Amino acid sequence: MNSIKDVLREILPAEKLAQVPQTPEEIAQAKLRLHSKNLASVKCPICRDGGFVHPLGENNRPDYTRIIDCRCVAAKREADRQARYMKLCELPEDTEDRTLETYRTMGFEILEEVKQAALDMLNGEVTFLSLVSDVDRGKTHIAIALCRKWLAMKRTAKYVYVPLLLHELRQAFKYKDGENSYDYKFEFYLNVQLLALDDLFREYHKTEGDWGMEKLETIIDYRHIHGLPTIITSNKGLDEIDMLSPMIRSRMVRSKNSRVIGIDSPEYITIKNKSK
Ligand SMILES: Nc1ncnc2c1ncn2[C@@H]1O[C@H](COP(=O)(O)OP(=O)(O)OP(=O)(O)O)[C@@H](O)[C@H]1O
Ligand SMILES: [Mg+2]
Ligand SMILES: [Zn+2]
Repeated sequence: MNSIKDVLREILPAEKLAQVPQTPEEIAQAKLRLHSKNLASVKCPICRDGGFVHPLGENNRPDYTRIIDCRCVAAKREADRQARYMKLCELPEDTEDRTLETYRTMGFEILEEVKQAALDMLNGEVTFLSLVSDVDRGKTHIAIALCRKWLAMKRTAKYVYVPLLLHELRQAFKYKDGENSYDYKFEFYLNVQLLALDDLFREYHKTEGDWGMEKLETIIDYRHIHGLPTIITSNKGLDEIDMLSPMIRSRMVRSKNSRVIGIDSPEYITIKNKSK
């Protein structure tokens, strides 16, 4: 029988044959080169992109009877989770700067109170926070900032501009299943870990009819009963809200964990350059 060398000699041109490792040293070096090349092309040198590793067992030796996710899989899973929660939250674009850290109180007691209430939501003392005021008082800023805090704590959060909520729910009837479907969306509004209902009743038209009001009331009542953190902002005062929905007003003020703040400081734009 021909040796491999003989076979190669027959099929390879002389210059290629010269590159074939011959001696044991040459073969060892070629193996090493191949190994490093393989290592260089893998993204994770720990599991070599297999996605799992053997955990350490007794005596700090790999336990080959068990497998666990490699840390690269865990990191990817965490990145995917973050991206998914962020997408579900649907924060308005270009609002990265609206955080609790950038919220300024500028010596106004009422703004201090708002900030404290936001912090109390974070520590669980307040579950229903309602901010009512005229325009440009930082209500949306706080709503977005709290959503960001929730996301940072790896919890789900949902920001919604209320005038679009009912429209969105109506659109969702088009989809039978999945994340776009009515059932999924409604269930998310009910149970998401923080719901920010921004601008309640800004453009509430009776044309939405009882259907829209019923949906809003169901969401707010359900979250109230289950003590689920909710932030409501509105340009309407409590009396006006009471006229539109006594039920919603009662949920806003009702429990010891509810806090309603009427922000009576001047418009932010008029004070932002004057103060500390
Ligand atoms: N106390 C504050 N500290 C820092 N930025 C603020 C503060 N108040 C308002 N802003 C900024 O001013 C702008 C308007 O604020 P925001 O949209 O939160 O007001 P709003 O009360 O929700 O108004 P509207 O009733 O019109 O919805 C935003 O860019 C926001 O970041
Ligand atoms: Mg707003
Ligand atoms: Zn890995």
